[in-house]
Amino acid sequence: MSDEGLRARVSTILFSQEAIERRVGELADAIVEDYTHGGAAKDARGRPLLLICILRGALIFSADLARRMSMPLEYDLMSVSSYGNGTAPGAVRLVKDLEMPIEGRDVLIVEDIIDTGHTIDYLTRSLMARRPASIRICTLIDKVSRRVIEAEIDYAGFELEEDAFIVGYGMDYGELYRNLPFIGVLKPEYVHES
Ligand code: PRP
Repeated sequence: MSDEGLRARVSTILFSQEAIERRVGELADAIVEDYTHGGAAKDARGRPLLLICILRGALIFSADLARRMSMPLEYDLMSVSSYGNGTAPGAVRLVKDLEMPIEGRDVLIVEDIIDTGHTIDYLTRSLMARRPASIRICTLIDKVSRRVIEAEIDYAGFELEEDAFIVGYGMDYGELYRNLPFIGVLKPEYVHES
């Protein structure tokens, strides 16, 4: 299938490439301001902020965000997955752990989307147990209408009220569509296709 074929499966573009670029820049500026002048940095040893990219969805957002942040930073990667059917709803499994210790560090979790809140709840609890100096959360999309577990989100790119099936800019359906440069709604006729 061609790239054109992928795009044709999207019914509505919710956030264009330009809108995403603009918003990522605003988020980066706000984060930099908070950690350089706003008192968000709590690391007693003054080490750089550590971005934690949650694979796989946040890969593209994290890369763009990091490049827009004009301050010293480090990044590490973590991968989690929801258990499939037949297990407790909302159960989250660790697929790949961080390489770096985070004790005493300032960490910023970077997600593409927070939906029910189960994943970010698991991540926050798991990382808190490692006694970082601070944890903040940044998500590109906050799907507020679907929240089951409360989450304190420090930086949100876009709030999404509708329960649309969205793809692009890191988000997939059946692992496809992640490389679309915009975020759009997948046409319903392609939602059950494997
Ligand atoms: C997505 C997203 C979050 C999670 C949010 O990941 O990246 O990690 O779902 O959902 P929740 O708030 O309902 O827990 P997904 O499981 O689709 O994996 P992916 O990042 O590899 O696409």
